Amino acid sequence: MRTTIIRRAHFNAAHRVYRKDWSDEKNREVFGPCSNPRYHGHNYSLEVQVTGLVDPTTGYVMDLRDLKQIIEEQVIRPFDHRNLNLDTEEFRDLNPTAENIARVIYEKIRKVLPHHLDLRIRLMETENNLVEYPA
Ligand code: NI
Repeated sequence: MRTTIIRRAHFNAAHRVYRKDWSDEKNREVFGPCSNPRYHGHNYSLEVQVTGLVDPTTGYVMDLRDLKQIIEEQVIRPFDHRNLNLDTEEFRDLNPTAENIARVIYEKIRKVLPHHLDLRIRLMETENNLVEYPA
């Protein structure tokens, strides 16, 4: 009985979406206001979806308290109220688009999630823009 459980979380972070090897004008042309050199913030909404078999002993796919703890340690603590470009190792040389943020979050959680469980990340950068990884 494969089942998906979902834990939601939120974090606020600043970023600038740009390429270091392009001029401000070229970055604005390609990335729009998200490339504003003085940065800007988003209220990110995150859904962490974990899929696996329901353990007949507990009735759980995984204890949601453990998932909450993993999200707290891997995502909220390092990213909440940070400037992703300046304050995090992950985005020092990686453009912090929603696509890249979702993949980084996936990789961080994947490392500590039990191997028998499948993982999918949904990251909402705005009310209307969201990214899923893996596709
Ligand atoms: Ni942005």
